[in-house]
Amino acid sequence: AVAVVALVAGTGFAVIATASPEPPHRHVPVAAATTTTSRQAVNGPTKRLTLTAGTIDGAWAFNGQVPGPEIAVTVGDTLEVTLRNRDIDRGVTLHWHGYDVPNDQDGVPGVTQDVVLPGGQFVYRFKADQAGTYWYHTHSASDIGVRMGLYGVLVVRPAPGAATTGDNECAVPNGSCADVTVPLHTLGGRLLPEPTTAQLAAGTPVRLRLINTDSTTHRYAVAGAPFRVVAIDGVKLDGPTPLENTALLIPAGGRFDVLTGAPAALFVDGRLVHSTGPVPPTPGAWPVFDPLTYGAHSRAPWSHIDRSLTLVLDRGLDLRGLLPRYAHTVNGAADPDIPTQVVHRDEVVRLTIVNRSLVVHPWHLHGHHVLVLARNGKAPTGSALWLDSFDVRPGEVWEVAFRADNPGMWANHCHNLPHAEAGMMLHLMYA
Ligand code: C2O
Ligand code: CU
Repeated sequence: AVAVVALVAGTGFAVIATASPEPPHRHVPVAAATTTTSRQAVNGPTKRLTLTAGTIDGAWAFNGQVPGPEIAVTVGDTLEVTLRNRDIDRGVTLHWHGYDVPNDQDGVPGVTQDVVLPGGQFVYRFKADQAGTYWYHTHSASDIGVRMGLYGVLVVRPAPGAATTGDNECAVPNGSCADVTVPLHTLGGRLLPEPTTAQLAAGTPVRLRLINTDSTTHRYAVAGAPFRVVAIDGVKLDGPTPLENTALLIPAGGRFDVLTGAPAALFVDGRLVHSTGPVPPTPGAWPVFDPLTYGAHSRAPWSHIDRSLTLVLDRGLDLRGLLPRYAHTVNGAADPDIPTQVVHRDEVVRLTIVNRSLVVHPWHLHGHHVLVLARNGKAPTGSALWLDSFDVRPGEVWEVAFRADNPGMWANHCHNLPHAEAGMMLHLMYA
């Protein structure tokens, strides 16, 4: 056991405790302010970059661009990002959406760190060990902050040599495969990204990394070629079969990785976003893909549940301010009055989420991927679904489970960010 000595400033009072279960806070000062990669003897390469948040042309941007710079690392790398805030008065942090970092790197102001105010900085550092498609965004005043543009893509590629199946064809960028990231976002009523075209030879494999950074569900369609959904929320699916004339509904915060071949075109909400050859006709009213019935059937890795928690999502009247207003509630209360839920380390925890309201709530637990056990009492018949963002529609009941293997205090909230700001946010704590 490690002895921890905390000095409480100004009192000359020392608190001594033993065996802190959590790693120490890593405010590591670094000199490098540009993107560099250095070899370290033991830990493998460290990839360093600086993201500076600032206002530009009526948007809020990282390094002057919306979305912020795309961060691509390889499994085994250590990622070190220095966040600086130039002039965002509401403050900034970085949350690595879907990437299960140690708690003190999670970027939730007031919970895992202090908010970074203008002139301030914070250094994030974590190991890349989960290949997949993720994104990052500010978690300070997250509704307005993300909407104004403080977000970007994080791609973790498999280590060289790990690419053994067809699903990893774009693991190592090369001339024979196109790896396209599509971080969908609505900025000032305009849909980003602007439509792009890459003329590819017929048959060239194309990996589309579809990322929904908006607060509402979007409808995606891949037209002109069959495709497979090879990963959801960064986790590979088992035995994905070819689909055609099928629409994909991606929840707020969610990511789908799709493998197709040129010539194919991607539409979002009926608008062309990317094409690799002649554009096929706009997709019609296609049936919607259901991840719960897709791929090779797999069984849950656990035969027991240690703890059951329930979240009932609803709408309520908040009378605490000057004027009564509607709040989005969990178990009858709104943030900050929703009791923190407690788990113990290594428990298998079942989370039952009941939507009693009339709107969709895209649910997002930080720090963990959850396995879908059932939707409306029906168990999935397809590949195991490990999600971090999923739509709980009006009237639906979702049962999901996770192993409590990442200690800390974690945000657990609706990713329709205006809903989160209007009360639909609670915390999960390890005892
Ligand atoms: Cu992408 Cu707590 O959020
Ligand atoms: Cu919601």
